[in-house]
Amino acid sequence: MKLDTVIAARSNKTIYREGNVSVKLFNAGYSIADVLNEAHNHAIVEETGFLVPKLEEVSKIDGKWAIVTQFIEGKTLTQSMEENPAKTDVYLERMVDIQIAMHGYTAKKLRHHTDKMHERIDQSGLDQTMQYELHTRLSSLPKHSKLCHGDMNPDNVIINASGDAYVIDWSHATQGNASADAARTYLLFRIAGEDARSEQYLDFFCEKSGTSRQYVQKWLPLVAASQLVQDKPNEREFLLRWSNVVEY
Ligand SMILES: Nc1ncnc2c1ncn2[C@@H]1O[C@H](COP(=O)(O)OP(=O)(O)O)[C@@H](O)[C@H]1O
Ligand SMILES: [Mg+2]
Repeated sequence: MKLDTVIAARSNKTIYREGNVSVKLFNAGYSIADVLNEAHNHAIVEETGFLVPKLEEVSKIDGKWAIVTQFIEGKTLTQSMEENPAKTDVYLERMVDIQIAMHGYTAKKLRHHTDKMHERIDQSGLDQTMQYELHTRLSSLPKHSKLCHGDMNPDNVIINASGDAYVIDWSHATQGNASADAARTYLLFRIAGEDARSEQYLDFFCEKSGTSRQYVQKWLPLVAASQLVQDKPNEREFLLRWSNVVEY
């Protein structure tokens, strides 16, 4: 593979186009378990029948691990929003439709979101009282087995010329509660400082899925506490505030 067409560059990986395939190439030192977990999640999701680029290969290229998938000719929703800002809400609504359709699939082979969240609360560094409150709240919320993306945002949805939507980037996928997945998307917009968009997103999600805002908000301290594990200094203050169960 020549790998000379970069689609996206990150600090720890680069995504290339190579003819009909996309190559996600992880830097040396990237956890092999995480690469294989992402590929495994992708395979599980593909087998549910939900539309994703076909997984072609997991391999090593010049000593680096790579996940090779079908290249989808099209635009991410982020690109469409940037090209046509006046239609941002239309694209946001499209993302919500796709996310709700995704929640219509079950994914019993994926890790359970509840288990992952309990583990992350333990690793959050929050004090014992707060951890206890969070574990208690988590245990009181319903455990579902819906296909959850875990990082649903406009960058991870590609629409092709026929209008078909492909969801990519399954490293955080779990089976779980749709409202937890929505709370996570809401939080991602808030972390990015896109407050108006986060509210519009939540309005669309609640209206279209018939869920109350209060119910999605119940998950917010839990997804915020989970996110603390990523240990990004610029997010810490914000996430600590959101992790406070008493306030929500
Ligand atoms: N199969 C694919 N077809 C077309 N473009 C892709 C494909 N996979 C990834 N991309 C592009 O690369 C970007 C980053 O890929 P992604 O898997 O989301 O990586 P990251 O984990 O860094 O977010 C996407 O936002 C999209 O623009
Ligand atoms: Mg992505």
